[in-house]
Amino acid sequence: MLDGAAVVAQLVARRSAGADRDTLLRAAVEQIDSASERFDWVGVYLLDDGWLTLHNFVGEATEHTRIAVGQGVCGTAVAENRDINVPDVRALDNYIACSLGTRSEIVVLIRDGGSGRIFGQLDLDSDQQDAFTKSDEIELRRVADWLGELFSATI
Ligand code: SME
Repeated sequence: MLDGAAVVAQLVARRSAGADRDTLLRAAVEQIDSASERFDWVGVYLLDDGWLTLHNFVGEATEHTRIAVGQGVCGTAVAENRDINVPDVRALDNYIACSLGTRSEIVVLIRDGGSGRIFGQLDLDSDQQDAFTKSDEIELRRVADWLGELFSATI
């Protein structure tokens, strides 16, 4: 089970030890990925000038390393400024398939806590239908909030 507070504690320790932002983004993805068998693909996309660019991931390589705001689940989350939990990706018209085996997906935005500026997002895919629970949403939000603080402090 994903424990967002435990992931954050690890990231805080790494940061205190001098880890830079790229290293911390990689560590966040690795730790989230290792938390559950349900998580088949875990990545971070960063937002720049209307495009989401893949920063790092664990899982199958994807050709979708750049996604326009408004496109797919990832781009829709940014356009509508909200997290999105999709129980069955086959029900969507605007879904961008990274892997044919994917059945469900969750996108959690990384934002500045004050201004709400969007820096990017955590994106998780699962081969299981309806894989992402309320608990996953809450725990991923904890990690995303900490990453938002990191960006606010280092941008
Ligand atoms: N499925 C996403 C694209 C990114 S991949 O899942 C890695 C989407 O529809 O935006």
